[in-house]
Amino acid sequence: MNPKSPLHQLQEKNQKAFEGGGAQRIEKQKALGKLTARERIEFFLDDGSFEEMDRFVTHRCHDFGMQDQNYLGDGVIAGHGQVEGRPVFVFAQDFTIFGGSLSKTNAQKICKLMDLAMKVGAPVIGLNDSGGARIQEGVESLGGYADIFLRNTLASGVVPQISAIMGPCAGGAVYSPAITDFVVMVKDSSYLFITGPEVIKTVTHEEISKEELGGAATHSQKSGVAHLSYDSDEQCLAAIRKLLSYLPSNNMEKAPLKDSNDPIDRREEKLNQLIPIESSKPYDIKDVITAVIDDGDFFETQAEYAMNMVVGFARFGGQSVGVVANQPSVLAGCLDIDASVKAARFIRFCDCYHLPIVSFVDVPGFLPGTAQEFGGIIRHGAKLLYAYAEATVPKVTVITRKAYGGAYDVMSSKHLRGDINFAYPSAEIAVMGPDGAVNIIFRKELAQAEDPAAKKKELVEQYKETFANPYKAASLGYIDEVIEPAQTRQKITRSLKLLENKKDQNPKKKHGNMPL
Ligand code: HXC
Repeated sequence: MNPKSPLHQLQEKNQKAFEGGGAQRIEKQKALGKLTARERIEFFLDDGSFEEMDRFVTHRCHDFGMQDQNYLGDGVIAGHGQVEGRPVFVFAQDFTIFGGSLSKTNAQKICKLMDLAMKVGAPVIGLNDSGGARIQEGVESLGGYADIFLRNTLASGVVPQISAIMGPCAGGAVYSPAITDFVVMVKDSSYLFITGPEVIKTVTHEEISKEELGGAATHSQKSGVAHLSYDSDEQCLAAIRKLLSYLPSNNMEKAPLKDSNDPIDRREEKLNQLIPIESSKPYDIKDVITAVIDDGDFFETQAEYAMNMVVGFARFGGQSVGVVANQPSVLAGCLDIDASVKAARFIRFCDCYHLPIVSFVDVPGFLPGTAQEFGGIIRHGAKLLYAYAEATVPKVTVITRKAYGGAYDVMSSKHLRGDINFAYPSAEIAVMGPDGAVNIIFRKELAQAEDPAAKKKELVEQYKETFANPYKAASLGYIDEVIEPAQTRQKITRSLKLLENKKDQNPKKKHGNMPL
């Protein structure tokens, strides 16, 4: 080909762009077990579907000798493609170019992509691997971050936004992922923190490694910032594809149906024996969830954080739903601050995107103690209440065992616009558990009894017969039906079908004032 022809020139430029920051830096990236930015996009999208935007954009910085260092694309690869045939927008920071740092032009590329995603109504996936603000550009790069934060905020609830953390993510770089709906981390090669170990050492004299401070384990177990974490780039990207399969492309659409051969009227006999008769005995609520959903396929998020609350995606009869469940095997399923906030955010996400919420309730109440009270359980517990109350998507509730006190109200009760509320025969619905209730309302009788232990046993039995069952609630219509546990799948699936075109709305307002 004529080396001067326009086509040749284009080919040369493309080749240059594909070289990223050069062979040496790519080798360094590979040595860390990381894919390159381009490989990540290729792996993530349906084969051959990637269309790149702004491949030839370069920075416009002239300070610190930057005019002599220019790379096509300027450290972020941006464009769109498909995941299971549906359009998505994706950007991948290229650590081999100025450490993937965010320049003004780099931010403009991301903003342009987000603006188009909003018009098209398609999810935005960010593959983050960056040393933060481009230091040579000063305030221009800070402005670039704020431009992205604004778009993240405006896109919230309009198109799903997912952030993969696949390398460093420090300083302002953490806040864009934090605003997005889901944060997915790669173990051992990614970390997120506002200020790094060096700064912390100077200011507070604490010594801590990057991994301990902001690695995947820290954010999956302690801070709750990460929703999912995986061993490799490939696993992380595959998981995001799966997550997207449960979601609609935008807030005007419904999630796609997924074919399943799992019969919707399948009885699950083992459920009739699964809930222990003794109400203080733990069991794993995930055994109930996986027994009733399509093919037992549960996509749990934040699985290692606030484990007394289980949240995740599943399907009934092919329809995608959000599952929220108390976990009796952790803290007896009590509601605490972390569990309340975890579930509240999940419920709000589901409500944004028309995903019905199926709740499994077994909750003895809010966790007592000064740590919880001083930490603001009143405010944080109210978030869960608020989220359930404001959600207008179909809400189906199954009380498997305990639903005591305020926690009964909170967990998708009829009073908060629960559409269909079931209870198992083992359900106990009352102001408080028998032990606590008897201690309070029969304090005098117990003090005067000849044999207080025997008296207490008798009174507890009496209380259980009166209140610790689903029938009082059922007689008031607070429970629509007391069901045989084996029928759970059929009952939920039928309810969801019934509610498919449910319409409900909140009063007109700018926005509510959730107790943040
Ligand atoms: C420009 C950067 C950069 C940055 C890294 N590089 N970070 N260039 N701006 N922020 C460049 C390096 O100069 C180097 O260039 C290449 O990227 C790889 O960096 P290394 O340091 O060699 O890599 P590594 O040892 O793996 O360390 C990665 C790192 C470290 C931990 C991310 O580079 C680092 O600490 N960077 C600075 C992080 C930071 O403080 N960012 C600003 C945060 S403040 P060569 O040419 O050698 O390959 C912030 C405020 C935003 O973000 C607020 C918004 C609200």
